[in-house]
Amino acid sequence: MSRGAVIVTGASRGIGEAIARDLAAAGWPLVAVDLDQKSVDALAADLGGPDRCLALAANVTSWEDAQRVAAAAQEKFGVIEGLVNNAGITRDGLLLRMSPEQWQAPLDVNLNGTFYFTRAVGAIMMRQRQGRIVNIASVIGLTGNAGQANYAASKAGVVALTKSVAKELGSRGVTCNAIAPGYIVTGMTAELPEKVRQDMLDRIPLRRFGEPQDIAGVVRFLLSPEAAYITAQVLVVDGGMIA
Ligand code: NAI
Repeated sequence: MSRGAVIVTGASRGIGEAIARDLAAAGWPLVAVDLDQKSVDALAADLGGPDRCLALAANVTSWEDAQRVAAAAQEKFGVIEGLVNNAGITRDGLLLRMSPEQWQAPLDVNLNGTFYFTRAVGAIMMRQRQGRIVNIASVIGLTGNAGQANYAASKAGVVALTKSVAKELGSRGVTCNAIAPGYIVTGMTAELPEKVRQDMLDRIPLRRFGEPQDIAGVVRFLLSPEAAYITAQVLVVDGGMIA
């Protein structure tokens, strides 16, 4: 069976890289997007070359880049079956010391980036009358967190965007869901102080941090036929942390 491609943003490391590798292993043709061309080229070479993985440098904060990626993906693979909005950043700091730029940066990447890619790729999916959009949110977008007001607001926005997109595009056969990861071991979380890491571990019923693969498997499920009737949902994948 020939399959449409899946676009993964922020694919060159961390959770995005695990998602790309997992989907490639499951036979999905991929479009790997990240800021730096060299890093996505290296990933694509590893995943079977340009026929299996189109490597595109793009900044998700750019509407022009989103349109360029969507057009290139469609030209190369015909059908775009999935979009995984994974690219994300943190700019942690206490609210009363947060500069306007620091506030804005996670909103630009996490929320606006998700909107731009959903807008560009969603239009193609609507015409196809099929498609799966998976947004990587965060438990912080559900609970809030001291020192992460900007990040929390951006991820809460992603959750609300997810539900709205699901309602707008559902009648055209397009689903839209979010995954809210808890603490996943990646470059993003490696910077946290040891005390914060231990406190978090104590609050996780499964007594371990998540691995990028724990998220990748759920993305693969949401792209599978078994998930056809799931839309507008937020799947919390956090080892039970926020329960
Ligand atoms: P990471 O920092 O390891 O990787 C993020 C990737 O996104 C990098 O390759 C980076 O170059 C890319 N990226 C950043 N800004 C970009 C832009 N403007 N345009 C294109 N690509 C861009 O982060 P990690 O941990 O893999 O996070 C992935 C997603 O998962 C993010 O949305 C993050 O908020 C979310 N998440 C991560 C958690 C964790 O514990 N690591 C927990 C909850 C959510």
